[in-house]
Parts: sequence; structure tokens; C-alpha cells
Amino acid sequence: MDKKSQNEPFYDIMLPMSKKVLLSGIQSSGKAHIGNYFGAMKQWVDLSNDYDCYIFIADYHALHSLQNPKEMKENITNLLLDYLAVGLDPEKVTLFKQSDISEHTELCWIFDTITTMPYLMRAHAFKDAEAKNKDIVVGTFNYPLLQAADILLYSPDAVPVGADQKQHIEISRDTAEKFNRIYGDTFKIPEPLIMDKVAVVPGTDGRKMSKSYGNTILLFAEYEEIKKAVMSIVTDASGGIPKNVYAIHNLLRPASELLPIYESKTGKYKELKELLIEDLEKFIAPLRERRKEFAKDIPKALAILKAGGEKAKKVASAKMNEVREKIGVNVYYD
Ligand code: ADP
Ligand code: TRP
Repeated sequence: MDKKSQNEPFYDIMLPMSKKVLLSGIQSSGKAHIGNYFGAMKQWVDLSNDYDCYIFIADYHALHSLQNPKEMKENITNLLLDYLAVGLDPEKVTLFKQSDISEHTELCWIFDTITTMPYLMRAHAFKDAEAKNKDIVVGTFNYPLLQAADILLYSPDAVPVGADQKQHIEISRDTAEKFNRIYGDTFKIPEPLIMDKVAVVPGTDGRKMSKSYGNTILLFAEYEEIKKAVMSIVTDASGGIPKNVYAIHNLLRPASELLPIYESKTGKYKELKELLIEDLEKFIAPLRERRKEFAKDIPKALAILKAGGEKAKKVASAKMNEVREKIGVNVYYD
């Protein structure tokens, strides 16, 4: 036995190792597509054995672009069913929705008071909205700080997201560092977790797959929808490998399998698309069926969400108490 281990208390090795924490979420602003799955959701499921996972529905984030209560309710329920259908097991993962935990918006306000306007004006999403001359709501401008609050309340070790969220995570890091500088060490600095291969899943037009571009293949698409989406994939006319078709196909099969097929069928776009349709159907059909099963008992799914919210609330409110103490608003003695 070396000197170091002699000095260590025996019970150290008897203590259960606490798991690292993972947190992520998606806005409830529309239907999930395969970009959401390969860019984010799949990582959550893959990591759910190794991490203590908090996965939420960012419904207050969605509110900045969706002001229709009926649609809002439908979207929340739909995203919950999506989460369950992709394999997020409520036994292992805390599923909740942002609006159930008022600490998120409370902490966002506190971040508002330490963040400058010019800093937030550098955010991509704000600059894009500005470039389109949109009437920008304060919620769009402030979006990254609500996201910072979402993350920092749970002190996660990993935040798995697609590459488009990289800047949001950087803003969360900057905000945590700034708060810690002003008020003392409070927040853990979060790390993004972006899988290189699937960082940006291309859409049917070759741009990033996104609900806002209308170039998606839906994660729970029916066969006819898959067919329609694949047939609309833009192919280049140069006769070689159709790169948009290949890029989507490569999510489902490794290059070692796909390249020989594509090389033996150069220029045969229709055949390659038909093959992609079959492969997508094989991948999507079981997910679609699982989702239909969960949809049979919506009250049960909602009970999972509510219970998850109660658990998440405990973590968030403990952190928020610490914050209130640090900023000096906690004046009571008890
Ligand atoms: P959308 O662009 O369709 O509105 P969201 O912004 O709601 O998608 O994204 C939800 C999650 O899915 C985020 O973690 C995001 O990074 C990821 N994601 C979305 N689109 C893609 C994509 N095309 N490739 C990789 N990840 C993506
Ligand atoms: N902005 C993310 C998106 O568009 C959703 C989101 C909100 C999020 N808060 C988060 C993702 C915190 C990870 C961590 O998908």
C-alpha cells in the first residue's frame, strides 16, 4: 500500500459514486425531424445509462414564436410522446417541462441584470432576425439567457446538442463565469457535447435540416411522407454520387456499406432514392409504432411529465436559493 492510499479514509471506496449530470431539451415548436434525433435525442438515449439525465420541453422558449394556446398544448404533448418513443426511459431520465419550474424564468431575470445589450446583439439568432427586418420581440433577444438559466440551474457535466446550439452553450458559459466573478463561485461551467459526424444533418435541399426551412424528414413520418420527402431531395445533375441523398443515407448505414452501392449506381438517382426510402422506413417504422402505443394513454404520459417536474423543481429551487443568498435578497433569518 503506498503512502497516499494509506492516508485515505477507508469508507471513501465504499461510497456510491454519484453519476455525472446531463441536461438538454428541445423547443416545443413543431414536429421532430431526423436532424433533431441524430443531432441531439440519440445522444441522450445513448448516454442515459451513464448520466443522471434531465431532459425537458422548452415550452417557454417556443412561446417567442408560437402564440396559439391550442397548438402550444398539442406541441407539448407531442414532444413528450416523441421523447418516450425514442427510448427515454422515465426510470432513468427525469422528463419535465420548463414552464413547471418557475426558477428558470426567475434566474433568467437575474442574468438580464448582468448581461450587456451589445453582448447579446452578437448572437446568431438575433442577427438573423435583424437581417430579415423582423419585428423582434424581447423574448427572441433574450432567448440565450433563458437557455443559460435552463442549463445552469442543474449544474450539468454535459449538454448534448446539435452544432447550431454551440453559441448558446458558449453564452451560458460566459454568463456563468460572469455571475461567478461578481458574486463568487456558484455555477458549474457547462460543456457542450456535439457529435462530429452528425453535428449538422442536412435537409432535403442540402441546407441544415430545420423546421423553419421546410426541408425536413419527420422522425415519425408515415411511409408516404417518407417517400414524398425523399423524392424531393435536391440532386446535383453532374452524374456522380448525389451528395444530399448520400449524406442522409449515411446516417443509417456506414460508408463502407454505402459507397460500393453508390459507386455501382452512379447517375441512377431514382434507384438510390428508393433504397433510401426503404432504409428510412426500416428505421422509422418501429419508432412510429412505439409512439402510437404511448399515444394510447396520454394521461399516463402526462403523469410522467408532472412527476419529473416535481423532481427537477427540487434541484432548481436548491440552486435558486443559493443564488438568492449570493445576490443579497435573502434577508430573513429562518
Ligand atoms: P429546428 O432547427 O428544426 O427548429 P431545433 O432548433 O428545435 O430544430 O433543435 C432541437 C435540437 O436538435 C437542438 O439540439 C439542435 O441542435 C438539434 N438539431 C436541429 N436540427 C439539426 C440538424 N439539422 N442537425 C443536427 N442537429 C440538429
Ligand atoms: N435552444 C434549444 C433548441 O432550439 C432548446 C433549448 C432550450 C436547450 N434550453 C436548452 C437545449 C438548454 C439544451 C439546453 O433546440
